Amino acid sequence: QYIRSLSSSAALHAIKHVTVIGGGLMGAGIAQVAASTGHSVVLVDTSEDILKKSAKGIETSLKRVAKKKFAEKPEDGEAFIQKVLKNVSTSSDAASIVQGTDLVVEAIVENLKVKQDLFGALDKVAPEHTIFASNTSSLQIADIASSTARLDRFGGLHFFNPVPMMKLVEVIKAPATSQQTFDALLEFSKALGKHPVSCKDTPGFIVNRLLVPYMMEAVRLHERGHGSKEDIDVAMRLGAGYPMGPFELLDYVGLDTSKFIIDGWHAMDPDNPLFGTSPLLNKLVSEGKLGKKTGEGFYKYK
Ligand code: 3HC
Repeated sequence: QYIRSLSSSAALHAIKHVTVIGGGLMGAGIAQVAASTGHSVVLVDTSEDILKKSAKGIETSLKRVAKKKFAEKPEDGEAFIQKVLKNVSTSSDAASIVQGTDLVVEAIVENLKVKQDLFGALDKVAPEHTIFASNTSSLQIADIASSTARLDRFGGLHFFNPVPMMKLVEVIKAPATSQQTFDALLEFSKALGKHPVSCKDTPGFIVNRLLVPYMMEAVRLHERGHGSKEDIDVAMRLGAGYPMGPFELLDYVGLDTSKFIIDGWHAMDPDNPLFGTSPLLNKLVSEGKLGKKTGEGFYKYK
């Protein structure tokens, strides 16, 4: 046991230095939460423009957190914001950043090949002990990890939007993920102040496997003419206690993301009625109406 734990370099390193790859909403949220909990974080993206937007988004979100957390003492809130901002920097050079990192969390585009290429390249330059994790919402962790030689130090960390508010992290143990790596990811999630749940490397893990078919059922119900969007949303908010109705949530998550997930599952299992596609969703995406982020989805936003 002693020798086994000594040989496990991953288990001997507490996660302090974190690299988050992908400056979108999820990546920025993960970077913000890690920085807020005392980790030193570098947020990486190939686009400087996106990094500027993410830094601005982090600051705006931190102000919202501080307003709530330090309602009685705004000056403490300002000190909190400054302290957190000191913990996070940005870079467009992933290869040099990962050399000093304990954990890489990837939150880039949901494209298997792009993720495999990224991790394959980082695997060559990252230290032995560095753990790799993907925030994928619907791809298999084992498929992403297959481009690396660190299958034992590779797992999933799936966060929820908005990351600073949502308490859950799904921690995914792929068949080759070592127990030490899995434990380190659980500990890291707790250190972020989140509540981790253990997931197998199955499509959609727990939340999306239940949530996406539910949201698609709502769209189909509406397509059949059995309820207006507004009534379905009110019904699920007031009748089932959901903070948002399914159409509001689809707009919030992004219609492109939702379509990508359901299309992938439909291709994998075309006879499963839970994985059926929707003409209405497809139409909105083809018109560029992707939800809140583009100003219009099922609803219009100012
Ligand atoms: N950053 C910081 N604080 C935030 C925030 C953010 N991004 N969003 C909300 N808040 C806080 C702020 O304190 C805000 O107060 P403020 O407006 O004065 O700043 C407070 O929350 C209240 O926010 P709102 O008035 O906008 O509305 P709500 O009370 O309804 O809360 C919500 C917003 C937390 C988003 C809530 O509606 C909710 O829980 N919605 C469901 C979200 C959900 O289901 N997410 C999971 C999606 S699935 C997913 O992400 C997986 C992926 O793989 C697809």
